[in-house]
Amino acid sequence: MWSSRWLFVLAAAGSAVGLGNIWKFPYIAGENGGGAFVLVYLACVALVGVPIMLAEVLIGREGRQSPINTMRFLTQQHHRRPTWVLIGWMGVLAGFLILSYYAVIAGWAIFYILRMADGTFDGVTGEYANQAFNEFLANPWQMVFWHTLFMGVTVFIVGRGVIRGLESAIRWFMPLLFVLLLVLLGYGVTSGGFAQGVDFMFRFEWGSVTGEAFLVAMGQAFFTLSVGMGAIMAYGAYVPSSASITGTVVTIAALDTVVAVAAGLAIFPIVFANGLEPGQGPGLMFVTIPLAFGNLPLGALFGAIFFLLVSFAAITSAISITEPALAYLVEEYNAKRSRVAITLCSFCWLLGIGTVLSFNEWSDVHVVGDLTIFAFVDYVSQNIMLPLGGLFIVLFAAYALPKAVVQSQLRLSNRAQELIWRTLAGVVAPLGVLSVFLVTIVGFDRLKDWFS
Ligand code: PHE
Repeated sequence: MWSSRWLFVLAAAGSAVGLGNIWKFPYIAGENGGGAFVLVYLACVALVGVPIMLAEVLIGREGRQSPINTMRFLTQQHHRRPTWVLIGWMGVLAGFLILSYYAVIAGWAIFYILRMADGTFDGVTGEYANQAFNEFLANPWQMVFWHTLFMGVTVFIVGRGVIRGLESAIRWFMPLLFVLLLVLLGYGVTSGGFAQGVDFMFRFEWGSVTGEAFLVAMGQAFFTLSVGMGAIMAYGAYVPSSASITGTVVTIAALDTVVAVAAGLAIFPIVFANGLEPGQGPGLMFVTIPLAFGNLPLGALFGAIFFLLVSFAAITSAISITEPALAYLVEEYNAKRSRVAITLCSFCWLLGIGTVLSFNEWSDVHVVGDLTIFAFVDYVSQNIMLPLGGLFIVLFAAYALPKAVVQSQLRLSNRAQELIWRTLAGVVAPLGVLSVFLVTIVGFDRLKDWFS
């Protein structure tokens, strides 16, 4: 069990803050036109993500096992259908898919620690930063090397179960990461692109939004908060009974959002000041950040530190992605943690090769439509599996668990609090997920036509 509520906050924040905030949020906001996308994302975090995170923590703490066994235990105890246990299984599968590409991108970040440090980017132009990144992408062997390194470190850490040892590191690294984002933000303010960057992120242009953008924004909210697949549920199992869940969850969600918005506000001004393309895709962070640090005093040093912190944030997230599967296998088969970690991550590593090749040799291989292996694995896990998992998790907490259980877990002490929970978890969050699915299927334009 976590020794304190504080430790849980750190671990859960470590899970939430990761590549999703710094790498993914800016680039998909860029691809989806900024403004309206960011608004939908923020609404999803507050109205859908937070209730689901509450549900995950309370279910986890009630069951006190891996998500699969927690669901099994709770359905048996309260005589509910065993099909609810599928939530746990789907989470394990989603985590598997997510980690496979997460490790590849985290590998890029590790590589960029060295690249920043050796002065490659001193005084660079946007064009050069772009070209350097594309050259890196073109070489699968190099990418596999860094991918393997990241996976190896993850296996080492989760195999030894040293999450506790990471506590002090999270405590120091996260604020430092935030400070460096502020430095970049300062650079952005003076770069001449700041107003344009802010405008891009916050100006709502409904005209440019597609049904697809809704889905991607919702998927991003799930991904960035680590909800929908049982990662937070698995961590919830270790939360002391005395801790308050609500305050903790709100803190974590707020922190996560602040980091993502700060990353966006740091990156977009650099984009506009240098005539780069906001919708250029997954390379956005790897072009803009070196460009900014390359033109700052002591940029090589701070740039290297920045990517070190990003890599570290990725590790603490990767650890949590493996936890539902790992905890289950250890519980169920009494297997050694290290052996399970090696086996699991080896398969994941293998699938990750598909992502590596998506950026070079197999960039023309499409699974469906124009989705490369990377894009497909990312799409299915983030935009479909996480929201679906989250939907059923929140429905389970709101309707299948006895009221008394939720009441005591969340310490709902009066009518008003209960009403807020009932409304958010029982109505708003599920309807939110369903309506986004609907908008995606029917198409935003067609819906707009119906209403006009
Ligand atoms: N939230 C993490 C990030 O933003 C990724 C993650 C997804 C972690 C799902 C756990 C579960 O980088």
